Amino acid sequence: MLTFLRNLFRKGPSQDHFKNDLKHLITDVHSHLVPGVDDGASDMSSALALISRLHQLGFERLVTTPHIMSDLYPNTPDILQPRFNELKVEVAKRLPSLKLILAAEYFLDTSFIALLENPDELLTFPCTDPLNGEKHEMLLFEFAFHEAPNDELLTEAIFKMQTSGITPVVAHCARYPYWHIDRSKLEDLHDKGVILTVNAATLVGNYGDLAKETANHAVDQGWIRMVCSDTHAPHHIVAVKELENAEILTKLIKSGELLNPGVGLR
Ligand SMILES: [Fe+2]
Repeated sequence: MLTFLRNLFRKGPSQDHFKNDLKHLITDVHSHLVPGVDDGASDMSSALALISRLHQLGFERLVTTPHIMSDLYPNTPDILQPRFNELKVEVAKRLPSLKLILAAEYFLDTSFIALLENPDELLTFPCTDPLNGEKHEMLLFEFAFHEAPNDELLTEAIFKMQTSGITPVVAHCARYPYWHIDRSKLEDLHDKGVILTVNAATLVGNYGDLAKETANHAVDQGWIRMVCSDTHAPHHIVAVKELENAEILTKLIKSGELLNPGVGLR
């Protein structure tokens, strides 16, 4: 029965409408749009310009995910929420139909493990799986690019999230150079129920051939559940626009596995 339902949903929208249509994604799940809190939008007008462009591309909901990184971006919900509220007010004036959600992109380190002791204070985001209606509270987290995450730390983080009812979501899983050759860790994370995401810019080759090949491999293996813009600046939106014409997006949408349309829904 489950296989039948899965296949039914996999057919997704009519094939005629797949091409050049980012609207199937509905939600962008990873972006840095809160002004002046990290390496994303530096001020309100830059943030509004990025948001307007993403909306024009067809996104109806944007989850914005400022960095929370103990040394470089020591953000907290108390710092981020008021700035996000200001942004939300300005967006509502201009784009009343657009839904903005505040979450965060947490960096895996011992400070993050400490934050996981108070799950109610974490900046998570909701998702209703379009495939089976399962409801999740999700948390986006990332690793260093130059060094693979410590296995014990990673296992502990996943354990703490999952036992608190939080679904872990790995940011830009194909951008980590140490997993470009040996991709078994990606499979391992997928098998543990961790959601793997790829950035549009990776899929269109902006981070090099190895990152793109890793992303393609992960898509082919069925490990990718979300496509994200990871918008910091206008060039990330150019990549999303480029993805609009890429076969890989059609493949992902047709897979029926993408969670994007359910993100932001409780
Ligand atoms: Fe990011």
